[in-house]
Amino acid sequence: MKATMDKLVNLCKGRGIIYPGSEIYGGMGNTWDYGPVGVEIKNNIKRAWWKRFVQESDNSFGIDAAILMNSRVWEASGHTTSFSDPKMDCKCCKTRHRADVLIEAHSKGTVNPDTMTNEEMQAYITEHHVACPKCGKSDFTPIRTFNLMFETSRGVTEEGQNIVYLRPETAQGEFVNFLNVQRTTRAKVPFGIGQIGKAFRNEITPGNFIFRTIEFEQMEHQWFCKKGTDGEYYEKYKKAALDFLLDLGFDREHLRYKDHDKLAHYAKAACDIQYLFPIGWSELNGIHNRTDYDLSRHSEFSGKNMEYTDPVTGEKYIPYVIEYSIGADRLMLATLTEAYDEETLENGETRVVMRFNPAIAAYKAAVLPLQKNLGDKAREIYRNLTKSFMCTYDEAGSIGKRYRRQDEIGTPFCVTVDFETQENGTVTVRDRDSMQQIRIPAEELEKYIADRIKF
Ligand code: GAP
Repeated sequence: MKATMDKLVNLCKGRGIIYPGSEIYGGMGNTWDYGPVGVEIKNNIKRAWWKRFVQESDNSFGIDAAILMNSRVWEASGHTTSFSDPKMDCKCCKTRHRADVLIEAHSKGTVNPDTMTNEEMQAYITEHHVACPKCGKSDFTPIRTFNLMFETSRGVTEEGQNIVYLRPETAQGEFVNFLNVQRTTRAKVPFGIGQIGKAFRNEITPGNFIFRTIEFEQMEHQWFCKKGTDGEYYEKYKKAALDFLLDLGFDREHLRYKDHDKLAHYAKAACDIQYLFPIGWSELNGIHNRTDYDLSRHSEFSGKNMEYTDPVTGEKYIPYVIEYSIGADRLMLATLTEAYDEETLENGETRVVMRFNPAIAAYKAAVLPLQKNLGDKAREIYRNLTKSFMCTYDEAGSIGKRYRRQDEIGTPFCVTVDFETQENGTVTVRDRDSMQQIRIPAEELEKYIADRIKF
């Protein structure tokens, strides 16, 4: 693993992948903007996920629910009362911290704060003189719980204003639409609902680039099944989640399952897939057996019967839910980490190369005229290719420098237009990983590339 967080942040900024948010105003802590290259990579990640878990998944349907939902949704889901972190302020330097994060760091992962009450965490911090990561002192306020939901308000007059929340997860949009989707698609249980969308959390300790941010995208899939089959589907989703990552090109050695030690009160089983990020092993995605908790709660709070009627037996029941949830931005960070490579060339120079799965790379090809006076032909080839793929065009600098730039953003193929192109219509195609070049007719380019970027 050659990526460090600093290398990734610098590369992303310099190559139009990810910039600090609101940068000209001095930034806004832990917000990030995707640039021209980054937005393509992230869109490709989302497309690959959607293809796998909605398009190719039997009996699965996609939705796009509203970010702002009736506040009762968050009462039913339990977010208004229990979606909180244990926070402490350092009395010396006034910085805010999560007690569980302090304990995890202090104990180097040997103590699991998830299994501790607030009182136990407080006692551990005092007993072990856990220090503030900013100033090194150990003098904190008592732990207070801090709700992570962002509030806003709707209505034109002050009196008429109602609190609404920016959704902290996309999942509830899938639960509240369970009956709509089932009826309009005539789906039979088991079936799935997938969604990709923004979520917002007022994280106390965001950070580590795009690992933990206050605004992020989730890709969530809820599988509605009959009680008794839930164990089998839980295992199936654990495997499907891992297979997806392996098919994207992740090394199995960089991924591991981690069962939750402490289950949420409604969960029957829960596990994460962790990835070896530059910050160490950390959660990449979660798979949860949520039982019939969510649909039952929405039934109770909305007064609507959320039962499913088996069309054959007439049996009525509230389905169990297996949830698979992954952050698009967190997967982006894992993808960047996994792809990053540094290689020493024969001439002693180091090349940085992002070895993305070609399906995920921002541009499938870069068209490079060897000299500027070959520009007309090169532009014609470029325009033709853009009808099928995102491509880029570059005529600035030496060909070697142009190859390096494409390597750094992971473009799988560089198409060079030279004098022979004018004579016999062929171009050279350079492979990003092997740097080998072959010569093919320009008219075969589209098929050549299409055959190599399938996911
Ligand atoms: N509906 C279940 C749920 O939201 P979660 O473990 O809180 O579960 C699921 O979040 C995934 O969303 C995580 O595994 C992670 O990939 C991503 N995620 C959660 N919080 C995030 C944050 N603050 N920044 C970026 N990604 C986040």
